[in-house]
Amino acid sequence: MCGIVGYIGSRSAIPILVNGLERLEYRGYDSAGIACLNGQRESLFVVKEQGKLARLKEQLQGFDLHSRIGIGHTRWATHGVPSRDNAHPHQDASGRIALVHNGIIENYAVLKKELQRKGVKFHSETDTEVAANLIGHYYKNHSLEEAFRKAVLRLEGFFAFVVLSAEEPEKLIVFRRSNPLCLGIGEGENFIASDVTPLLEYTRRIIYLEDDEYGVVSRDKVVLRSLKTRKTVKRATVHIDWDISQAEKGGYPHFMIKEIHEQPQVLSAAIQKRLNRRGNVYFDTLSPGMDKKLKRIKNIYLVSCGTAYHAGMVGNYMMGKYARLPAEATVSSEFRYEDPILNKDDLVILITQSGETADTLAAMREAKQKGAMTLAVVNVVGSTIARESDAVVYTHAGPEIGVASTKAYTAQLATLAFLTLYLAQLKGTITKKELKRMIAELRKLPAAARKVLKQEAAIEKSARQHYHRRNFLYIGRGYNFPTALEGALKLKEITYAHAHGYAAGEMKHGPIALIDHEQLVICMAPRSRTYEKMLSNIEEIRARDGMIIAIGTEGDKRLEKLADEIFCIPKTEEVFSPILTVLPLQLFAYKIAVFNKRDVDQPRNLAKSVTVE
Ligand code: AGP
Repeated sequence: MCGIVGYIGSRSAIPILVNGLERLEYRGYDSAGIACLNGQRESLFVVKEQGKLARLKEQLQGFDLHSRIGIGHTRWATHGVPSRDNAHPHQDASGRIALVHNGIIENYAVLKKELQRKGVKFHSETDTEVAANLIGHYYKNHSLEEAFRKAVLRLEGFFAFVVLSAEEPEKLIVFRRSNPLCLGIGEGENFIASDVTPLLEYTRRIIYLEDDEYGVVSRDKVVLRSLKTRKTVKRATVHIDWDISQAEKGGYPHFMIKEIHEQPQVLSAAIQKRLNRRGNVYFDTLSPGMDKKLKRIKNIYLVSCGTAYHAGMVGNYMMGKYARLPAEATVSSEFRYEDPILNKDDLVILITQSGETADTLAAMREAKQKGAMTLAVVNVVGSTIARESDAVVYTHAGPEIGVASTKAYTAQLATLAFLTLYLAQLKGTITKKELKRMIAELRKLPAAARKVLKQEAAIEKSARQHYHRRNFLYIGRGYNFPTALEGALKLKEITYAHAHGYAAGEMKHGPIALIDHEQLVICMAPRSRTYEKMLSNIEEIRARDGMIIAIGTEGDKRLEKLADEIFCIPKTEEVFSPILTVLPLQLFAYKIAVFNKRDVDQPRNLAKSVTVE
């Protein structure tokens, strides 16, 4: 998820672009850049910097070319590490056009080779530079608009673009497919941005582009056309009355609830990136050399902290069952001090959203030092753990601003599911037929997640009855024992109530003493190998007057009768159920926190990334 801005009008563009990028920094912040017309000369002025926007602003100190047109970008890296070369805007080889992009061009490698055969030289690792040069290629014999159309018709993937040409400085070309882009309509000026946040201080008249429409934006006019037919398209201008803070959260009251609702699209993006044309699992960051080493692996350790540790526990079950490898999930702070016995046949998987967690970083270094192979499952491209591990796979969850991890967690689970299938493919422990069935099940998850999240109102109603409680118990078995731990962690970290996650089979070894009419127990009981055992646990709790909220599979009448309240997930493969069962728990924790007037996005005593021991 990156931030794009554009401006054309009668004011100086640079201050408007920089101001817009500041409003979009929450969408990505590993590098930034702008491009505008270089004075009256038919050339472009482009400045880009790695790191936070402040560094770009330093470079732009004192610059005011009085350019009335420009584009800008703040990056969340997906292809290519954060660096000045990889920062946007990207130009074509001639330097006549500049492009900013949000999204993924899936066929960029093929197109890059084609352009290189035509003699095009590239200066970055990005897919965006390929798009810029493809437009530049057609620009030799066509107008900017036509060159843009011809190029984009050849791109596969999902993206939003804004293009600027030094030779046609009276217009900007805009386009979207899946990734958002909107226009702010002014008087004698027009604005472009990835979302409305940067536009609202200039105008509240907004046009939201629809998929596969492109726009020719001049200072007094906006013409929208269908990419395929070139037919003009009419789009209504809407009036947005959000304030800026609401706009950054997409109209949601907090980043956390926005990120909870982003999970279906995050899962969809994770799945799209993991399947090749033949329908096999692949990771663009794992080389054939890496595959050889992975094939040799005999033991797996999944090492991480907090929510990422719960993901590691699920990964542990997955890899044991499908890749038939002994796997052990452990917390980084223990692993790094237990003097683990490791060698080159061991794979240590570091799971981390930030890629900067001190304990996980130390664990990775310890594993490397003992000769094990290290593989990072990480969200932030170019983070320390991503750079120092032997191999890396990205979860592509986009920036997660809320301290309480939600979409990063389900993205970790989806990535670990694909990694498990990838290892099973390499080791031949899964048949083609079984692989196909599992992939078909994974493809259903985004829609299933959307369905689960539709229970938000019912979950809010439940939270209203329970938000005054100070004690919560979560229990689960098998794949959903980690879900019980994760649900408890979500609740405690944002509501400050005591919440305990427990293996349900352990109830009779102590925790059942907690049960009386005051105790609320959240029970993970989707259809599974241990379903009947979970029902016995629930019966034991009922027999002692405990209150039960069950998370079950749709249509489970037996469970409905036993539980005081029930929230359901669609039927899914047991191994993937944690991706869905966690969703009601995230919403439950969020609603309880809101009723308790907690600082949901920045809970007390916590940081988004624990970079100290
Ligand atoms: C989860 O909601 C917490 N924010 C915390 O437990 C977090 O998962 C943990 O600190 C690990 O962070 P990482 O994934 O960035 O390594």
